[in-house]
Formats: sequence, C-alpha cells, structure tokens
Amino acid sequence: MSDRQVYMDHGATTPVREEVLEAMLPFLREQYGNPSSVHAKGRAVRSAVENAREKTALALGANTEEIYFTSGGTESNNIALRGAAKKQKKPGHIITSVVEHHAVLDVCRDLEKEGHRVTYLPVDSSGLLDPAAVEKAITPETFIISIMAANNEIGTLQPVGEIGAIAAGHNILFHTDAVQVTGQLPVDVKKLQVDLLSLSAHKFNGPKGVGALYRRKGVKIDPLYRGGGQERKLRPGTENVPGIIGLSRALELSVEEIPRKTKTLQSLRDRLIRGLLKIDDVVLNGHPEKRLPGNVNVSFKYIEGESILLGLDMQGIAASSGSACSSGSLDPSHVLSAIGLDHHTAHGSIRFTMGWGNSEADLDYVLDKVPGVVEKLRLISPMGKSV
Ligand SMILES: Cc1ncc(COP(=O)(O)O)c(C=O)c1O
Repeated sequence: MSDRQVYMDHGATTPVREEVLEAMLPFLREQYGNPSSVHAKGRAVRSAVENAREKTALALGANTEEIYFTSGGTESNNIALRGAAKKQKKPGHIITSVVEHHAVLDVCRDLEKEGHRVTYLPVDSSGLLDPAAVEKAITPETFIISIMAANNEIGTLQPVGEIGAIAAGHNILFHTDAVQVTGQLPVDVKKLQVDLLSLSAHKFNGPKGVGALYRRKGVKIDPLYRGGGQERKLRPGTENVPGIIGLSRALELSVEEIPRKTKTLQSLRDRLIRGLLKIDDVVLNGHPEKRLPGNVNVSFKYIEGESILLGLDMQGIAASSGSACSSGSLDPSHVLSAIGLDHHTAHGSIRFTMGWGNSEADLDYVLDKVPGVVEKLRLISPMGKSV
C-alpha cells in the first residue's frame, strides 16, 4: 500500500469540511431541542432550521418556503416523481432519459407498473439529450418531464434551461435531478424554469443522509408519507437538524466559491484528460466541454475497470469504475451503454472526480502512476491487446 492518498471520487461522496462540521456540532451537543417543541430549546432550533432554509433558498434563487429538507437525492427524486404521479387522477405519461440515476429510472419503472407510460429518451455519443426530442415526445397525457442536470458517471451537462422552457410552454411539470451540479456550478431555479429540483448535501462537502427538494410555489404533489406534518406535510418526520444545518453551511460555502473553484477544477480536469489520452488506446467518455468541472471519465481499452481500480487503490488513488454496478452485475452501466460504448470499452471505464482539496500535486501523482498500472494490466490482459 502507498503512503500517499489521493481522493478522486468526489462524484461518489465528498469529505465534510471543517467549517461545516463546526456549524453542525452545537446541534449534536447542547442544541438538541425538537424544532416542533414550543419551549425555548425547541424554538431556538426551529429558528436555526428556518435560517438554514433561507440560506438554501438564497443559494438556488428560490423563495424560502419553496425548500423542503429530505434525507438526500434519492428521497427528493422519489417525492418529486411519485408525488406528481399520485396527484394524477388517472395514469399519465412521463418523459425522462435513459441516462438518469437509478433514483429516477427505477421510480419510473415502478410507475409503469402502476399504469403510467414512460418515454426514456436516448442521448448522443457524448451523453447529450436533444431538447427537440423532449418536445416531440410530449403528449396530452404528459404530466412531468424529469431530466438530470448533469450525469453522475460521464459528467455531461444537459440543456436543462432549454428543456425547462419547453416544459413551461406546454404547462407540464419539470423536475431536474441536480445532485451532481449543485455546489459545483451556478443553479438558479428561476432561470432553469424548473418546478422541482433535487439536491444532496454529501456531494458538496456536507453530511450524508440529508438533501433538499425545491418545489416551486403552487406546484401540487402528494406526500409519500403521513406523519407529524413536518416540512409542511410534504416530508413528515422529525427533522435531521444537524444535517440540515450542515447542508445549508456547505451549500453557502460552495456557492460562494464557485467562480474560483470552477476554473481550478476545469483546469485540473482538462490537464488530467490530456495526460490520460497520451496513453495508448484511451478514449474520453462524455462531452469534451459540456461536462462537470471535476469529472474525467475514460476507457482504457483491453483491460477491466475493476482491475484498474484495484491497481490504483494499491497506489493510494481512489476513483470509481462504471463497469460493475453496485448490484455486482457484470453488465456495463446503463450510461456507458447508452452512449454506444461496446462491451470491451465500457468495461475499461474509470471515473476520476476531483473536488475540494485536490491539487496539481495530486494530479502529478495520478499521471505518474496510471500509465504503470495500465501497462502492467495490459501485459496480462485476456482481452486481446498486450503492450
Ligand atoms: C445524479 C444523482 N442522483 C441521485 C443520487 C442519490 O443521492 P443520495 O445519495 O443523496 O441519495 C446521486 C448519488 O450518487 C446522484 O449522483
């Protein structure tokens, strides 16, 4: 094992920043009141939660009462889609894309079982969706369009503003899974013309298990749970107060830093892409420019992503692969298949996601180690070419 540790898996999760932890600690210690309690301890915590809501709204260009705290991206997506479906008097039509996160795709599959019809729009070889195809897919039964702002695997940014305008023009709800984008790039719910937007704190140096759903004022969705009436009945259950405080502080910090951070990450990203493409038989997955600032996804032909990951791990480098999904299946991910990668190429895919804390020195280290790992694996590769 290497002494040097380089974390390049910020797309999976991010470390909690010290400032965020500091903001949370009082709510794990002395400020333990239930925000619904009427006594002073409860009222103080209520006021902190509402302050966090205000900050979260400000970061998204939303109104305070349009923010609902949830347990994360998965729950926000479920509340948005299932909640909109529950509101329908009869089965209707949903438009989404083939590259969505499972927290959208699997919900859509469930809704199909309940009688709704779903159009899964294809993407081009860079992972981009054509807004014209969204418009063409609209039927009189369409009640919601759900398109992610950025893809978690290949980093491709979707034209959500254009899609939002189309949805608004047809009076159809528009939901975006902005889990990968929030805190990385500016998000303005008004400019994007979204009705519902999901985000998750652990992707922008906040704690795990807490997220938010933006719901534009006037948008009607049914709650999935019944209970104590918290979060104005849309997401009942005693609030995760430390998490909510952490989310709002992390979002505030990351949004403040976007102008500087984006440039730094883009330059690290582009240098890493250039460096990796110097190795023989390496292809870039996703769009060359329209991609998340810290996302690099490449395929090393003739070798397995999982073996590369282990090789990198031995060198202290944390990345992730798109070949074996969490289910342990050997099928390439639905995203890599959707952009048309053949089985072999998809199997050699690795995602490096840079973020807060990564430096040029980290990149030097990665660029120094990857060629050796790849060369060694290709020498013993059963998949054809050996160097
Ligand atoms: C695009 C996208 N949507 C949803 C999720 C799920 O978020 P959470 O882990 O907060 O449930 C993720 C997490 O990887 C994601 O990348």
